[in-house]
Amino acid sequence: MNLISTNNIDTVLNKLHEDSKNDQRKIAESVLQSSFRPMVPSDFEHVYLPITKNQGESIRELIVMNQCKYVVEFGTSFGISTIYLADGVRQTGGKVITTELIESKAIKAMHNLSNANLSKYVEVKIGNAIQTLKAYNGPIDFLFLDGWKDLYLPLFQMLEPLFHIDTMIYADNMDMEATRVYADYILTNTDRYTTQSIDNGKGFLTHMVN
Ligand SMILES: C[S@@+](CC[C@H](N)C(=O)[O-])C[C@H]1O[C@@H](n2cnc3c(N)ncnc32)[C@H](O)[C@@H]1O
Repeated sequence: MNLISTNNIDTVLNKLHEDSKNDQRKIAESVLQSSFRPMVPSDFEHVYLPITKNQGESIRELIVMNQCKYVVEFGTSFGISTIYLADGVRQTGGKVITTELIESKAIKAMHNLSNANLSKYVEVKIGNAIQTLKAYNGPIDFLFLDGWKDLYLPLFQMLEPLFHIDTMIYADNMDMEATRVYADYILTNTDRYTTQSIDNGKGFLTHMVN
């Protein structure tokens, strides 16, 4: 049974990673269409903007090694990262809550999770994470930040009361200027957090230590 699901997961992930290679072309088309106005989130409705395979594997390993059960994700897209997270909690007996702003993307993510036989490990919330996660009051063992970068810090601060010692926060795209405000916060609060740069500087892994 385990072997069958693992094969399924790999097949779905390979297909999605392959399809995500069309992102650059689709983004170029969106940029052309939006050249007379600033880009908006719906311009990214048809693109994955996913984590890499290496990142996915390291996130899954972190979850399993640290026996994380309560996992929260900001920014589902089509569910590539969610599949790695769900495969992690499948092995720890946990659950993922993930949230996606664009309904059509969330629906596609649910379909992809179902193809990977992982639906039962995930709750997908549709809407702005600041609203959809407001009522969440469970603990958080692992938080994955990968939605729009200006919301990393407000979302982190909203969920901070739910952290405990050893909570891990993985933030993607920390090489982007827009994540600077978040980086300043966690790198300044050294009495509460320790942070290391991982996955070739793409990610910041933060541990709550106090
Ligand atoms: C970088 S992509 C996520 C990629 C995904 N984590 C993966 O690796 O496959 C960012 C996603 O966050 C979503 N998003 C942006 N702002 C959001 C918000 N306020 N609430 C929920 N989702 C949001 C976007 O619609 C987009 O699909």
